[in-house]
Amino acid sequence: MPVITNIEDLKRIYRRRVPKMFYDYAESGSWTEQTFRENTSDFDQIRLRQRVAVDMTGRSTATQMVGQDVAMPVALAPVGLLGMQHADGEIHSARAAEKFGIPFTLSTMSICSIEDVAERTSKPFWFQLYTMTDEDYVRRLLQRAKDAGCSALVITLDLQIIGQRHKDLKNGLSAPPKPTLKNWIDLSTRWMWGINMLQTPRRQFGNIVGHAEGVDDPSSLFEWTAKQFDPALDWKKVAKLIEMWDGTTILKGILDEEDARRAAEVGANAIVVSNHGGRQLDGALSSIRMLPRIMDAVGDKIEVHLDSGIRSGQDVLKSIALGAKGTYIGRAFVYGLGAMGEAGVTHALRVIQKELDTSMALCGRRRVDELDRDVLLVPEGFEGRWQQP
Ligand code: GLV
Repeated sequence: MPVITNIEDLKRIYRRRVPKMFYDYAESGSWTEQTFRENTSDFDQIRLRQRVAVDMTGRSTATQMVGQDVAMPVALAPVGLLGMQHADGEIHSARAAEKFGIPFTLSTMSICSIEDVAERTSKPFWFQLYTMTDEDYVRRLLQRAKDAGCSALVITLDLQIIGQRHKDLKNGLSAPPKPTLKNWIDLSTRWMWGINMLQTPRRQFGNIVGHAEGVDDPSSLFEWTAKQFDPALDWKKVAKLIEMWDGTTILKGILDEEDARRAAEVGANAIVVSNHGGRQLDGALSSIRMLPRIMDAVGDKIEVHLDSGIRSGQDVLKSIALGAKGTYIGRAFVYGLGAMGEAGVTHALRVIQKELDTSMALCGRRRVDELDRDVLLVPEGFEGRWQQP
């Protein structure tokens, strides 16, 4: 077994072990993938200030997100189809997160259901909601999340319709994969994945199949989103959902100051600055580039989190130093999950925590709440000079 020291190590193993269809699903952005690429390359533009002769004893990465204690300011982002990256993927990821002491967010489009994950974990997780046109289904879904003890609701606002992802369309993405010749050939070199998958009963969208009706092909993410997701979602509906949940609510997918102001007024506890990992509006700016402007607009009104592009502890540090209270990783833990299940997710978390801790120390900071803009070297014009109406 190779020594895992960074997220790229996990990604290499992941790529060998998981069917191409699901590797491509995780590793794609929409259209030209410009936003997907810039989410990571923009982080690289920000540099760190090396500070010396500062007492480094008693360091800690612990902090809080929406008032909940976290071992580091990182949550596992909601990712659809985790149970196709590895059999029972949502359960493996949730267990790794709870042992590490960070939140796990279960996607509406998960393979393991809310109840499956709740039964196999002991701490509350967060639930991510896609709103569907079937209001009754949404009400029941929220009640199921409440009954399972979910401690926060993450409402995704940037996917009323799904972005164009060429690879998924060409691969015929489905859960489970269809028994085509192409898929059989691919699976023949990923036999461990197949053996694990044959041993679990969880191979369909667990929160949906058997709970909602009206889609001809229940294995297709594209069909679900096209037929069931609510294209009419607006701020009024968001306010209603927050009221219905009546608990901690996080609004995900904010990338604009005006939307951030609306979100701050609607009664949520936090927002996530996000472009959905570059999977929705290609051509949108990266999350890290938008963060300073959003902090200026609402930083004193609402807790701000960030996702899209985080692959290292240094990326976490940069986000926190620019004002975010927490971050989310998606692909960075999916690589670990696909590579080696729960142990792989734990590896990913350890790598990120070590990078965060070491980089904090070398920047002369001992605690997360000591991170501020002063530790960063942000290139002039980083936010960009965009003409706005
Ligand atoms: C769904 O959340 C996706 O980005 O595929």
